[in-house]
Amino acid sequence: MPVTPLSPPAASLDQAAGLAAAWLRANCPCGQCQDPGSGQRLAGLADLPAQVRITAATEAGGDLHITFWPDGHQAVFSPSWLKTQAATATDERTEDAKRLWAAADFPAGPPAWPWRDYRGREAARADGLAALLRDGMMLLRGVPARPGAVLAVAQSLGYVRETNYGRLFDVRVTATPSNLAFTGLPIAPHTDNPYRDPVPTVQLLHCLAGAAEGGESGLVDGFAAAGLLRREDPAAFGILAATPVTFAYRDATADLRATRPVIGLDPAGRIREIRFNHRSMQPWQPGGPGGGDRVAGAAAFYAAAGAFARILARPALMLSFRLEPGDCVAFDNTRVLHARTGFAATGTRHLQGCYADLDGVSSSLAVLRRRTAP
Ligand code: OGA
Ligand code: ZN
Ligand code: ZN
Repeated sequence: MPVTPLSPPAASLDQAAGLAAAWLRANCPCGQCQDPGSGQRLAGLADLPAQVRITAATEAGGDLHITFWPDGHQAVFSPSWLKTQAATATDERTEDAKRLWAAADFPAGPPAWPWRDYRGREAARADGLAALLRDGMMLLRGVPARPGAVLAVAQSLGYVRETNYGRLFDVRVTATPSNLAFTGLPIAPHTDNPYRDPVPTVQLLHCLAGAAEGGESGLVDGFAAAGLLRREDPAAFGILAATPVTFAYRDATADLRATRPVIGLDPAGRIREIRFNHRSMQPWQPGGPGGGDRVAGAAAFYAAAGAFARILARPALMLSFRLEPGDCVAFDNTRVLHARTGFAATGTRHLQGCYADLDGVSSSLAVLRRRTAP
């Protein structure tokens, strides 16, 4: 049995081609380290030697041949693969990967496609999914105004997210509403289901019958609004990013709660997720910045939440439009807040909604692009 030397040989290297020995060893493409069929890694990270060095790095036939210390393992890397590794990691859920907007950027309403075109032509579907990811919204017109049709739209995005409200839910006035959505009251900009973790990341609303008057829809780019808060009131932004807030919902068959900040950031401090719904927000509790001071902490939190709500309510930010029967709007429920104006509770307004998820949208788009890219 070979004895592993305690320290690397003098002639060893800790990098080759500008890449760390540990990086190259961890990503060795040989059949022992990576399954050739699926491309999945076979070697576990715990199996990597604690210290990795390179004892030989040579070029042969255009490929980079590496021998590693301490186990003498050999790897061959193609320069074309190494080149594709030069990009920096991007989390496409953060503000940096989005096109932020205000109402004036969409004078004709949300980016829209006729359902027939979207359903029948892969390039149109790819455009719609790309808009949903980039702008946080897309509108499909001419979806049959039939109950259940919203599920076909959700399936075109990825997978339906079933919840306690069902695979789909009806939004219309009911006699004993368990949710203010099921009244004729106006609803301020909010994200849905903040009391769920994970939250449904895509929401769809399909209009089966409109209100005679009122019931207009509004969408607000929550990343743009949070960016304004960061500029105008950085302290308030910091409080909303650092305060855990509990959202809760209960009815006869459900008892849901989740505790997350209103503004979720990625490790680099970029805006990644908005949860905002005053209807289900529970009383502030100590646990965030300011320590346990129940008076100062609460005062600062409600001032910050109010400042954000007032930005969200700015007419310049809200894209207002009317859902006509057959229209189905889909939006990023971690970014774009939705609202509606009030309407007569005696009317026939009827929407059907359902949820889906952004990972499915990204996947569907990537698969479509394999086929539609030039
Ligand atoms: C909802 C909702 C808006 C509307 O059901 O989540 O916000 O236009 N509905 O009725
Ligand atoms: Zn290997
Ligand atoms: Zn809602």
